[in-house]
Amino acid sequence: METTMTFEYAPAPESRAIVTIKPKYGHFVGGKFVAGGKHFPTINPATEEVLSQIALAGKADVDAAVKAARKAYISTWSKMSGKERGKYLYRIARIMQERAREFAVLETLDNGKPIRESRDTDIPLAAAHFFYHAGWADKLEYAGLGTSPKPLGVAGQIIPWNFPLLMLAWKVAPALAAGNTVVLKPAESTPLTALLFAEVCQQAELPAGVVNIVTGDGSTGALIVNHPGIDKIAFTGSTEVGKIIARAVAPTNKSVTLELGGKAANIVFDDAPIDETVEGIVNGIFFNQGHVCCAGSRLLLQENVAEEVLHKLKNRMQKIRVGDPMDKNTDVGAINSKEQLAKIIELAAVGDSEGAERWSPECKLPSKGFWFAPTIFTGVTQAHRIAREEIFGPVLSVLTFRTPAEAIEKANNTPFGLSAGIWSEKGSRTLWASQQLRAGVIWANTFNKFDPTSPFGGYKESGWGREGGRHGLAAYLKGVSHE
Ligand code: NAI
Ligand code: MG
Repeated sequence: METTMTFEYAPAPESRAIVTIKPKYGHFVGGKFVAGGKHFPTINPATEEVLSQIALAGKADVDAAVKAARKAYISTWSKMSGKERGKYLYRIARIMQERAREFAVLETLDNGKPIRESRDTDIPLAAAHFFYHAGWADKLEYAGLGTSPKPLGVAGQIIPWNFPLLMLAWKVAPALAAGNTVVLKPAESTPLTALLFAEVCQQAELPAGVVNIVTGDGSTGALIVNHPGIDKIAFTGSTEVGKIIARAVAPTNKSVTLELGGKAANIVFDDAPIDETVEGIVNGIFFNQGHVCCAGSRLLLQENVAEEVLHKLKNRMQKIRVGDPMDKNTDVGAINSKEQLAKIIELAAVGDSEGAERWSPECKLPSKGFWFAPTIFTGVTQAHRIAREEIFGPVLSVLTFRTPAEAIEKANNTPFGLSAGIWSEKGSRTLWASQQLRAGVIWANTFNKFDPTSPFGGYKESGWGREGGRHGLAAYLKGVSHE
């Protein structure tokens, strides 16, 4: 029999005094904040408190941003040496580090993710992306992408709400390093760190118009996608919108990269180190409330260890702390929006009605805000919708397999192909499995590890192209073919 002794944690709240949120924001165009017309609120999803009023960019705003980006591209940025561009990127990276706490607190307030994650993952990785790409700016001719690589021009960049500042960094840093200028649109529920980043651009004295930020919803995103003055579209978000964008740019000269959904298999072979594996499963699906495109949302357990893994996993899940994202001890924070919560609730109900067995640890959820307890479904089959569709929440679907070949077949039986995980003590098995898996990123005995030097992207409906590393640079340079 196992006995567990639990200690009550005293609250360890992070102070929000470091951030100043204005009651209302405009757009950042040509190096200046300009007033918007219509506004909509952005809220803290953990409390439903309205944090600020955000401008909804219409055609005139997007036109102005594209014009500013074109002007900066022609007059300054495309003429500047890589060495000079690199200096600006280093400066931005250092300011992001100096203001890291401010960014982390703001990200957590606007997004609902635990302060521990924004502080230790999102913000340091965002700064790392600028440092890494600063290093490339004067070395593009040595990247193996041609002897004299040229930028594309103006990039339109549309990002989601799950890693707001980090996705901005993934988009802006390589674009600028390669000599492009940008018009970026953050997601409607998480615009605040992008607007703080605009201040960082001013602080770094980045030439006006190199970075332009317009806020708004899907209608603003569509204006960017369809704008004739834009040379490249970079999008991260739903597969549904990715398909709309692919259709819209198909008859144009625009380059495009799409980073879309996933339904990653996290495969546990019977020789896996079970305790470490359990940590990896938890990190794979409950990190960032499961709002992760590469989340390990399909757990494939070899039958002879399934019982043991599930037993240990449930024990471990009882210790996950769900609640106030601003508390430094919190593991799982708030669901980002009412809409996303509704989607998670709906798909979990489908899991029930399809006959899978639902389990969650007992946990008290706050009365205000949007919450969903960490959940696993066992007895899931490949035909179940919860095994096929992206839930994008803290919900794990558990399947079993008997032989390694069956594991691979099940893992690849998905319209997606973004990431996968392998847990095994045998190197030969890990290498064999990774060669069979149709996924862009494969982790072995770890999960959700990110690094700016490593390309990231998917197969099939998970998207087109790669971001990060040398491969990611290709997406911002002329005449470089990418898959
Ligand atoms: P979404 O794809 O609608 O939103 C992502 C971004 O695209 C936002 O900035 C949004 O304003 C913009 N957008 C929306 N419609 C657009 C259009 N027609 N043209 C151009 N831009 C447009 O995703 P949403 O609705 O927030 O989430 C729905 C589902 O998508 C989630 O449940 C999840 O499954 C998936 N998702 C995947 C992400 C990833 O990292 N791959 C990130 C966010 C969502
Ligand atoms: Mg918000």
